[in-house]
Amino acid sequence: MAEEIAALRWDESPDGGDGPAVVLLDQTRLPVDEVELVCADVPALVRAIRELAVRGAPLLGIAGAYGVALAAARGDDVDRAAGLLAGARPTAVNLAYGVRKAQGAFEAAGRDGDGAGAAAALAEARRLHADDARASARMAEHGLRVLGELVPAGGYRLLTHCNTGALVSGGAGTGFAVVLAAHRSGALRRLWVDETRPLLQGSRLTAYEAARAGVPYTLLTDNAAGSLFADGQVDAVIVGADRIAADGSVANKVGTYPLAVLAHYHRVPFLVVAPTTTVDFGTPDGSAIEVEQRAGGEVTEFSVPYAAGACSAPAAVAYAVAPVGTEAYNPAFDVTPPELVTALVTERGVASPVSGDSLVELCGR
Ligand code: MRU
Repeated sequence: MAEEIAALRWDESPDGGDGPAVVLLDQTRLPVDEVELVCADVPALVRAIRELAVRGAPLLGIAGAYGVALAAARGDDVDRAAGLLAGARPTAVNLAYGVRKAQGAFEAAGRDGDGAGAAAALAEARRLHADDARASARMAEHGLRVLGELVPAGGYRLLTHCNTGALVSGGAGTGFAVVLAAHRSGALRRLWVDETRPLLQGSRLTAYEAARAGVPYTLLTDNAAGSLFADGQVDAVIVGADRIAADGSVANKVGTYPLAVLAHYHRVPFLVVAPTTTVDFGTPDGSAIEVEQRAGGEVTEFSVPYAAGACSAPAAVAYAVAPVGTEAYNPAFDVTPPELVTALVTERGVASPVSGDSLVELCGR
């Protein structure tokens, strides 16, 4: 079996550095190059978050917490660093959550930059990292059980969108952890992987993870999903979430909502897999979720960092795929209403149907 993917690690003394650093597997360079990006200060980490070198809701929370620990270890202004980190991307609630937890630990230890405060922030980041790995394992168990209840036996053909595996987590991931569990139990027939325009998290990252794990997968363009449903080739949809509002509305990678509509029309179970840290009772409903709007250039140009089959040759070529000056609509996420979600799978168990009440029951608020 291929080595486990480590999307992020804390390094006390990286080569050539003069202090600790947050070291990321640079996701902008996958699947061609597996290279690390060393973030020795918070501005470098914020840049990595904005450019999606590190991404996905749970991992953003972990990165944010380590970022606070980094600022504390360097003796930087921790409150300022926390503000920069939490504001780097607005939709994934785990980012602000992770930052807040590490900042709280730093404060509780007396705001001591070099000593106890820095150690407490780092310990909190490490705790969140380990908790997330445990949550992944629990989600996989619950998700596999739910699949067994919702889908007739005979080999699942699962459709997924964006990337929800080890690249977004301290463990095996959210949705992809369930896919892996199904695969390892012999119950997975095929994983359909949406390419996930415009930044191709499906083809670059999910296909990479599936290939490494030996999962049988097929890549499709996002707009081919309808034909698959119409042909009866999808047994369930499995996605993650970036924020779940108090009413159960789910913000996830743009393109998730159309899949939920398709699944509803074709009576196919639609599962959202996310840790309870992604549930945000401070956001009352879907309309209150801030959806990140990204640069139009991500839609009007294909950015090709490497020639096909080449390695480590950062050509960084951008090809125009629209006339110069074209205005593009480029929300990074969309919002799926709870009535389109068959079940929400978390580390604490399953909410089905998904509603404000079932969320409160599950999260014990
Ligand atoms: O813009 P990204 O790549 O950070 O978006 C990530 C997603 O939308 C994932 O599907 C989501 O974080 C859920 S999996 C943890």
